[in-house]
Amino acid sequence: MTDTATETPPTTEDTAPTGFGAALSTAYSEALAEVYDEVYPATPDLDDIGAFLLTLARPGASVLELGVGTGRVALPLAARGFEVHGVETSPAMLARLAEKDPEGRVTTHLGDLTALDLGRTFDVVLAPFNVLCCAMAVDEQIALMHAVARHTAPEGHVVTETFDPSDYHVQKRNEVATHPVADRGAVIESIGVLPASQNMMVQSTLLLDGAAPRSATTVLRYLWPSELDLLGGIARLELTARYAGWREQPFDGGDSRKMCVSVFRPLT
Ligand SMILES: C[S@@+](CC[C@H](N)C(=O)[O-])C[C@H]1O[C@@H](n2cnc3c(N)ncnc32)[C@H](O)[C@@H]1O
Repeated sequence: MTDTATETPPTTEDTAPTGFGAALSTAYSEALAEVYDEVYPATPDLDDIGAFLLTLARPGASVLELGVGTGRVALPLAARGFEVHGVETSPAMLARLAEKDPEGRVTTHLGDLTALDLGRTFDVVLAPFNVLCCAMAVDEQIALMHAVARHTAPEGHVVTETFDPSDYHVQKRNEVATHPVADRGAVIESIGVLPASQNMMVQSTLLLDGAAPRSATTVLRYLWPSELDLLGGIARLELTARYAGWREQPFDGGDSRKMCVSVFRPLT
């Protein structure tokens, strides 16, 4: 089931960071949608997210996943019995999700997170896999956090997962990675960073059999954990827990490869 949550596409013209131009977007293109599930497969440890959510919410609770993509996270949550809704700005990503979900177990909403207003709240608002970084600039991130707060039930929880930007920020890592795409070729992903604006540009070049090379670019603005707390405070959300992974590994800030899983609750 899909509806259109907002008519407003993600804006880039007003907020494009210096040096990146106005043509970039946080949204995933048709080309990225085609290879996304092969580059980022659904792994068994995604089930950890469901187990983690059950420490916060009852079975069957309502979950709103931001930037739901192809349903890599949402479909296992629906299989666990959560009532799952997903917001996504890329029709191509939603089309992939629909192919994988003929029964419509995930209710999808086509729209821009920063302007989202579904007119209801959820027990859990979930932003996995760096979705809070899907913004070009800090004003979009603030709008996004307000949207998160608007959709969280008074006794509900906000759960976010963000990467540690330390090595990228000091430009120790300008990465190039090659992802094989089963028997069809490869995707070469290169990452560049503008530390002053905390923007990261990810360029993917698709080299697939029978097709001319295609490239797709997305941009994001990375977040430090302390910034997440500030954004939360601006939207009246209070940090209640922080871990270095879905299995509640202690977050000590010492390992740059750790993901940061944060839990917030609305302030009354
Ligand atoms: C890193 S992917 C994560 C997808 C999914 N949550 C997962 O873990 O596989 C980020 C997704 O957010 C979507 N996105 C980016 N900017 C958005 C926006 N402003 N509003 C809604 N979705 C957005 C992208 O199109 C992409 O599908």
